Amino acid sequence: MSNELKHLAIIMDGNGRWAEQKGLRRTKGHEAGAETVRAITTYCAAHPTIESVTYYAFSTENWKRPKHEVEFLMKLLEKYLKNELDTYRRESIRFFAIGDLSRFSDSLRERIAFTQEETAGNDRLTHVLALNYGGRDEIVRAARKLIQSGEEMNEENLGRHLDTPYSDVDLLVRTSGEQRLSNYLLWQLSYSELAFTDTLWPDFTPEELERIIEEFSARNRRFGGI
Ligand code: IPE
Ligand code: IPE
Ligand code: MG
Repeated sequence: MSNELKHLAIIMDGNGRWAEQKGLRRTKGHEAGAETVRAITTYCAAHPTIESVTYYAFSTENWKRPKHEVEFLMKLLEKYLKNELDTYRRESIRFFAIGDLSRFSDSLRERIAFTQEETAGNDRLTHVLALNYGGRDEIVRAARKLIQSGEEMNEENLGRHLDTPYSDVDLLVRTSGEQRLSNYLLWQLSYSELAFTDTLWPDFTPEELERIIEEFSARNRRFGGI
């Protein structure tokens, strides 16, 4: 029996190296990377089984980058959400952000909230961006909420207080050759299949994703059973 892919998670990595290899500024790599997000999201929306795709767009550690790169990423994100709204409406894509958004500017937070509200009823694909996201931070924030609620501490209750109100990740793809999680979705990746490719994110295509999904489908997922 082949595995069904419902929740795909992606660590889109390698934008900076892609640009540097071409003698361009790193920011050009981020611009090119945004085009890849667009292409992969369209592919996922048309895919028969994918219900959600969660991209790692900015980690709790990425604030360590030079100020101008951080500022560029924030502006790019705001512009991206503005530009994509029509596509989300046309393709019935629901947008959702996870992470600690409190550190972002008012205008970016408003844009995120507006995009979420405008697309809340869309049901073909849920397109999640992890923003100022860290897996440990998410678990700590969830634990805090659970304590405040007075509910019993167990996996189900803690899981409900996470940022991600949907299923576990089936498949994680990381581009650019790095083979690490970098604090991504630590709770939701417990039983995910992992796939790594050397391709840098701006060069990643729906065709390559399709090959990865085919290979994933044939894997033997045992979940601790036999
Ligand atoms: C991923 O590409 C995008 C973000 C982390 C925002 P990088 O910017 O990490 O690219 P490399 O890893 O330096 O090549
Ligand atoms: C992970 O990539 C974060 C995102 C893709 C947003 P990084 O490039 O920041 O991760 P490390 O530093 O190589 O682990
Ligand atoms: Mg990187």
